[in-house]
Amino acid sequence: MLDKVHKLISEVKDFKTTSKDEIEAFRIKYLGSKGLLKGLFAEFKNVDAELRKDFGQALNKLKNSAEDKVSELSKLISNSAETKSNYGDLTRPAEPIELGARHPISIVKNQIIDVFSRIGFNISEGPEIEDDWHNFTALNLPEYHPARDMQDTFFVEKSSQVEKDMLLRTHTSSVQIRYMENNKPPIRTISPGRVFRNEDISARSHCIFHQVEGLYIDTDVSFADLKQTLIYFTKEMFGKSKIRLRPSYFPFTEPSAEVDIYWGLKTETDYKITKGTGWLEIMGCGMVDPNVLKNTNIDSEKYSGFAFGMGIERIAMLLYQIPDIRMLFENDIRFLEQFKSVI
Ligand code: PHE
Repeated sequence: MLDKVHKLISEVKDFKTTSKDEIEAFRIKYLGSKGLLKGLFAEFKNVDAELRKDFGQALNKLKNSAEDKVSELSKLISNSAETKSNYGDLTRPAEPIELGARHPISIVKNQIIDVFSRIGFNISEGPEIEDDWHNFTALNLPEYHPARDMQDTFFVEKSSQVEKDMLLRTHTSSVQIRYMENNKPPIRTISPGRVFRNEDISARSHCIFHQVEGLYIDTDVSFADLKQTLIYFTKEMFGKSKIRLRPSYFPFTEPSAEVDIYWGLKTETDYKITKGTGWLEIMGCGMVDPNVLKNTNIDSEKYSGFAFGMGIERIAMLLYQIPDIRMLFENDIRFLEQFKSVI
């Protein structure tokens, strides 16, 4: 009898399978309600008294090893099932990580910053919600100045209850004022930022767009310095330096000019963007009006300077042949994905 139990113990030890059904059959055979152990325990009373102790111990050993075997084998197959279903083939190369792309506005903005930082300009920023003083009055546009109508303004608060009119800045020239209020000449700064105008949206213009403002204040700054800076910029930025300066008017600069770059008419987009002329206006500029210097407590007898402001969208449209400005604001992934290769 004892031999039989010992034989069963070694059988249990040697049992191996990876099949769920076979494990279950094994369990029923040994541990089931009509299983071998049940029968052996029932025979306990027939065993001679002096053998009972050994028999009992052997039976317990058999029971424990059968139980251990079942749990050990079940664990093994559940592990391998998990490996298959959850992790697949662990040696397979990983899925490539999807890379994002910079927005064309950011790409062009960074390029402009790069070009100017090479000649000593730093970067300054100001708030998008601005007060009347910084956006208009300090820029030589007092109340009721007709040139205020040049830029249709979104007012945030326009009432007698608030001390100052608050508005969405219509240009980055407001940052010039903030910078001059807080810094002494020599000043060389560029201010990129988002601006807002209450204009109809079309393929060529939008009510939200981006500008980069430039400001240079020092002793003996002349219009020639401005022109040379513009030529340097267009050469670095576009690889071409054919520009023309058209006399213009801005209340904060005197004299003032608009800068056109000759782009050419190679593609249909060139025609669209330049209205068929090959020339594209890229910025406004001029010598800082002495009144503006006075408004910011800079000695206008001692210092002079120039300023310019350009639209980033136009330049991006030209460089990347984007026929409609609205594409820059729609966040269509099919459009944005195309800029992956540009840093
Ligand atoms: N602020 C002007 C605009 O938005 C551009 C400009 C900036 C012109 C600086 C002259 C000097 O149109």
